[in-house]
Amino acid sequence: MTEVSKITFANSSRVRKGTVIVIVGEGLKFGERAMALGIDALVRRAAKIVEYSGKSMKVLDILAPADTGIDRLIVVGAGKAETLTGQDWMRLGGVAMGVLSGVSAATIVLERPDSAGLDPNFAADFSLGLAMRSYSFDKYKPSKDENGGSAKKLPAAITVLVGDPAAVRTAWKNRSAIGEGVTMARDLVNEPANVLGPVEFAKQAAGLKSLGIVVEVLSEKQMAKLGMRALLGVAQGSPRPPRLVVMRWNSGKARERPVAFVGKGVVFDTGGISIKPAGGMEDMKGDMAGAATVTGLMCALAGRKAKVNAVGVIGLVENAVDGNAQRPGDIVEAMSGRTIEIINTDAEGRLVLADALHYTETRFKPKFMIDLATLTGAVIVALGHQYAGLYCTEDGLAENLRAAGDATGEGVWRMPLSPEYNKLINSKFADVKNTGGRGAGSITAAQFLKRFVKDTPWAHLDIAGTAMGSPQTEINRSWASGYGVRLLDRLVSDFYEG
Ligand code: BES
Ligand code: MN
Ligand code: ZN
Repeated sequence: MTEVSKITFANSSRVRKGTVIVIVGEGLKFGERAMALGIDALVRRAAKIVEYSGKSMKVLDILAPADTGIDRLIVVGAGKAETLTGQDWMRLGGVAMGVLSGVSAATIVLERPDSAGLDPNFAADFSLGLAMRSYSFDKYKPSKDENGGSAKKLPAAITVLVGDPAAVRTAWKNRSAIGEGVTMARDLVNEPANVLGPVEFAKQAAGLKSLGIVVEVLSEKQMAKLGMRALLGVAQGSPRPPRLVVMRWNSGKARERPVAFVGKGVVFDTGGISIKPAGGMEDMKGDMAGAATVTGLMCALAGRKAKVNAVGVIGLVENAVDGNAQRPGDIVEAMSGRTIEIINTDAEGRLVLADALHYTETRFKPKFMIDLATLTGAVIVALGHQYAGLYCTEDGLAENLRAAGDATGEGVWRMPLSPEYNKLINSKFADVKNTGGRGAGSITAAQFLKRFVKDTPWAHLDIAGTAMGSPQTEINRSWASGYGVRLLDRLVSDFYEG
């Protein structure tokens, strides 16, 4: 896994050297420990010069402040500290790490700038922001060369000074596990498809056994025996065989039905015979982001020992062009027994999910199923890169997802399902066809999936816009965002744990 900043907690109030970060409130309010450093007067003086007032997320960088021994003093504005949420503290951590690029070590004096004590959970949220922002996928740029190649940046080692290090360490155990899940998801999505095929992805997932997750990897033969001909039809054009991976984490009540997560794992999507245009096709190495999120989520749940029974199922295939590739007009019978007419071989994700969803529902009878997929370009037209499209058959589950989205900043926006849209995918020759008309592309894709879910409460997240190439934020500068790991971890912890 890509290394992120190593964070340690201490309770020394004497920092007199190196790079030091302090937090100030709006109107240049200092906490007690920043005051104890004796830096308030010099910060006020520097702030006056550039009209800095400690507004939220704003930074003041002071080099070699006189008479302190400190090399560099960075002031991070917290705005109105009384109103800050966990998400705000996380973003503040991201901002702090953002100023530290190129620095090998730093000390952060973490406190609320009013005199109230800082909740250890907020300190852990701040640290998660630090860790996530320090992520950089640069394993393939190890050297600085004369052509301007950029050297691999080592993340800074950070010492965070807090009032109660023991309490913060306990809260950090949980948050750092979530951070590891996010890192794992980002790594999988950033990795190019020549390195990460279905077999290699399955191997990464199998590595989660070390956390106590039960992992099964189904071969092509086993999938054929189960009748997963929708998934196998997509895979048949690639020399690299498909895999279906089942991950199980059982720390909930014995015999309680599991919650289930299902991911689209197309390691590369050429479009198949209905080939994609060349421009931007390199992004299709990230077409396994749904599977990456599910894997990262299982890593997070196990890492923090969540009290839940959870299942993760990922369908791993490559959608390639080949003499043996599936054709438009082909008709395949899915595991559920429904027949599908292939209109466009580029609408392949839904074919993979049709079998993965049916398998998950019939084998595990879960409390609910949530699938994640970079399913359509149309969802980017509708919602851009800010929200994932949410389709859901149960209002309670949709509401819980919305709440988890608000709490984490990984937003979901509910989209419609209806018989009117469902009609658009009726086929002349089979039970269903794999594309609708020109309009409502993200919706007809969801309607297609719905036909492969019987009566289990189900939600579908179209993450084509949010998982990769999404906006650069305080907590992410990587192409792959790891979207969905924190969202679903929060959904589990707030509503389905214990
Ligand atoms: N993987 C793509 C969707 C996608 C597009 C993800 C852009 C991320 C960025 C998916 O398999 C696809 O090709 N969808 C088609 C469906 C169409 C053929 C009905 C699309 O969106 O154009
Ligand atoms: Mn496609
Ligand atoms: Zn695709």
